[in-house]
Amino acid sequence: MGKTITYTAVVKEMDSIQDLTALEQTLISKAIDAAKTAYAPYSRFNVGASVLLENGKIISGNNQENVAYPSGLCAERVALFAASANYPGVPVKAIAISAISDHVSIGELLSPCGACRQVMVEYEHRYQKNITLFLKGDTEKVYVVDSIGDILPFSFNSDKLKPK
Ligand code: THU
Repeated sequence: MGKTITYTAVVKEMDSIQDLTALEQTLISKAIDAAKTAYAPYSRFNVGASVLLENGKIISGNNQENVAYPSGLCAERVALFAASANYPGVPVKAIAISAISDHVSIGELLSPCGACRQVMVEYEHRYQKNITLFLKGDTEKVYVVDSIGDILPFSFNSDKLKPK
């Protein structure tokens, strides 16, 4: 006989962006702006992501698609990799993600893909600091995640590659 272990994702729903601090609102508006210039001609699902670093810098990115579909990259990874390339060793405090589309309806909750969660959790683990996530769809609501671990429970991390 065994047992079932349940891992739960934890997300907070806020009624309005007004309930957030000025800096958090700025981060979200930068993600919305970044979505507007995404290169997503194939999906027409434009995503923007803004990364707030511990030094106060905000680095934005958006999804970059390619005709060879898997060669493209999500907004979160474009933004995070750019932030890490330009500010090596600076911890990540928060990430805002938003999307716009003339093709599909976005809805309330924008939920990052599994590959981006894996990348985000690496930064959290690397700096041993929680990264707050702000998820903004196309309604007034904002979803807040206190730690990437909250939406990627039971994740693979670098501890597993430590030599014996
Ligand atoms: N995409 C992102 O940029 N971030 C996400 O969290 C989900 C999906 C992109 C990938 C692709 O360019 C398009 O959205 C449709 O999947």
